[in-house]
Amino acid sequence: MQVKSSLTPESPIGIFDSGIGGLTVANAIRKILPGESIIYFGDTAHLPYGDKAPESIIGYAVGISDFLLKSGCKMIVIACNTASSIAFDAVKKHVGKKAIVIDVINPVVAEVSSSKKLKRIGVIGTRATIKSEAYARRITQSNPSIEVLSLATPLLAPMIEEGFFDNKISQTIINSYLDRPKIRKIESIILACTHYPLIRPEIEKYYKGKVQIIDSAQIVAAYVKKQLELKKLLNPAPKGKQRFYVSDLTPSFIKSTRHFFTGKVKLEKKNLW
Ligand code: DGL
Repeated sequence: MQVKSSLTPESPIGIFDSGIGGLTVANAIRKILPGESIIYFGDTAHLPYGDKAPESIIGYAVGISDFLLKSGCKMIVIACNTASSIAFDAVKKHVGKKAIVIDVINPVVAEVSSSKKLKRIGVIGTRATIKSEAYARRITQSNPSIEVLSLATPLLAPMIEEGFFDNKISQTIINSYLDRPKIRKIESIILACTHYPLIRPEIEKYYKGKVQIIDSAQIVAAYVKKQLELKKLLNPAPKGKQRFYVSDLTPSFIKSTRHFFTGKVKLEKKNLW
């Protein structure tokens, strides 16, 4: 089916993730741009993306983008580091000029690369994100004086998605990852997974203020605003509407959602495949 371009200010912003973690980005966008309408898609049936083959991640991301285009979105935000690192080019190619496509990695890379102070940056994320070296490659390309130390932390996203954080066991798991020699002596750490803002207090507890924590949600939301301003596509409405779709609806997702998004969320099940 042919999809027409929806580049009008009143069109919604489409946001997707492998699950409900991307709601942290949706939340930040809603706060900074309350007039925008949002269509969110969480691919909970295929979660986690972090352990999937690149071809599968690309297939899911393109399929969801198609749904967001058919829903009339002017912009598609890939609110998942794994999909951003593996499928950004494929989604951009597929979407063409029909909508603006934004990932969660480039805005963060631009922000940290411009720093004159940072010399050693840690990155934690899923296996797929870390294996892609998307952060390490792009940061050192833009600022060769920065050393990037990356660590895959595959247990964290499923643990958080299950609502399992802010307790002794989650703190022990987080500490054991952050203790690894691979990411020692860093000045700053990028939370390269949209689930991780929920464990930010536990990461802060571990570093005791000695390491700056970079959480992409705010950086991406500011970038989204700038892009819409530049393209004269900001929605002038006083208050936008939000719809939240998931590919698999379970009581555990419904329960966890409240941690990720402040405000009312009614998850609706949508079969895309
Ligand atoms: N939210 C996803 C990300 O930012 C991680 C979860 C997953 O493995 O699907 O990478």
